[in-house]
Amino acid sequence: MQLILSCALGLCFLCLAIGSRCPLNDFQRSEGRELVPTSWNSARVLMLPGLTLEDCARRCSNTLDCRAFNYETRPSITCKQLPWVEDGSNAEVKRNVNCDLYEKKVYVRKCIVGKGEDYRGKVFMTKSGHTCQQWWSKFPHDHRWTPTATNGLELNYCRNPDGDRIGPWCYTTDPERRYETCNIPHCKDDVCITCNGEDYRGQVDHTVSGRECQRWDQQYPHQHIYQPEKYPDKSLDDDYCRNPDASPVPWCYTTDPDMERERCEISKCSVVTKRRLRSSYTTNCFRGRGEDYRGKVNETTGGIACQRWDAQYPHEHPFYPNTYECKGLEENYCRNPDGSEAPWCFTSVPEMRTALCLQIKRCADDIEAEGTLLTKFQFHIFLIEKH
Ligand SMILES: *[C@@H]1O[C@H](CO)[C@@H](O)[C@H](O)[C@H]1NC(C)=O
Repeated sequence: MQLILSCALGLCFLCLAIGSRCPLNDFQRSEGRELVPTSWNSARVLMLPGLTLEDCARRCSNTLDCRAFNYETRPSITCKQLPWVEDGSNAEVKRNVNCDLYEKKVYVRKCIVGKGEDYRGKVFMTKSGHTCQQWWSKFPHDHRWTPTATNGLELNYCRNPDGDRIGPWCYTTDPERRYETCNIPHCKDDVCITCNGEDYRGQVDHTVSGRECQRWDQQYPHQHIYQPEKYPDKSLDDDYCRNPDASPVPWCYTTDPDMERERCEISKCSVVTKRRLRSSYTTNCFRGRGEDYRGKVNETTGGIACQRWDAQYPHEHPFYPNTYECKGLEENYCRNPDGSEAPWCFTSVPEMRTALCLQIKRCADDIEAEGTLLTKFQFHIFLIEKH
């Protein structure tokens, strides 16, 4: 009861391991999911009743053949450790509202961090298409490696046991080609960002200086407002870099108590993707929150002239047009670069920093589309328009 109560208050994922690394950082969480083994495998699930979430994670981190765990809260708290992640033949993921599934990142992630020495994925093909040789086999290529419980040399999967700069590699089954890289992408290149990366959903979990990110569902070492359940549309997953607050690039809170938050280094997409987005722009009216409004209204609802976005007077601000290249911050037009409720601007009056531009009308098709599904917020705007 105690645990359920504190979960309701958003406190259940407090990682209080002061001074040591939070074991949950090794895992990727799937809410309301359970990894169910096929019937002939059920004896391989280790049931540990009554463990805290953190202890369950720590046990799994420290156990060689634990790759995932189900954390069940009802009918009773049970930590169920499994030697697989999702895998067609051994176990499948099912819905279960009383359970969350945690899988070790290194087994589910399809990209690498650093040189990929901890990569435990299932790619077994090299860059130029050769199938990998089994690590236990010395044929066609003889070598010095022996699979052990800790070195990850499993089947014929690409691995980087010697910390090679080229990343995960393998001996190939082609007698002419001893070994080759598998070209597993770096997480920072695997999913690229457009604009300031507000829709980034990739798996970079370190900051630009190499600090490990703090999980969004935790309040330690840094307390913060971005609890995942409060911002469901921001996908604040695990400890992955995200941009819930319209910052210039994705960022995260760090696990370093001396550094609250820091930006992450993620590749930018080529221009092609950006152009495709343009079709949603409007000029005479706005849809949703007006983030795609590109019209020329340049004063506030009350008729006050707007400040130019490229000016820092009378108001200093962070919305430099060059930093927010996809937000249409031209001239002094009303825009919505930060997810506010409608287009707005800094005003030319020193006493009034910002104001909405609600004289811009909502598009007719947008009002119709929302007729059946007015959220509280949209209803609010709707009422303002009616006056
Ligand atoms: C606002 O826009 C109108 C027409 O586009 C222009 O004539 C006017 O000078 C602009 N006002 C300011 C303050 O920029």
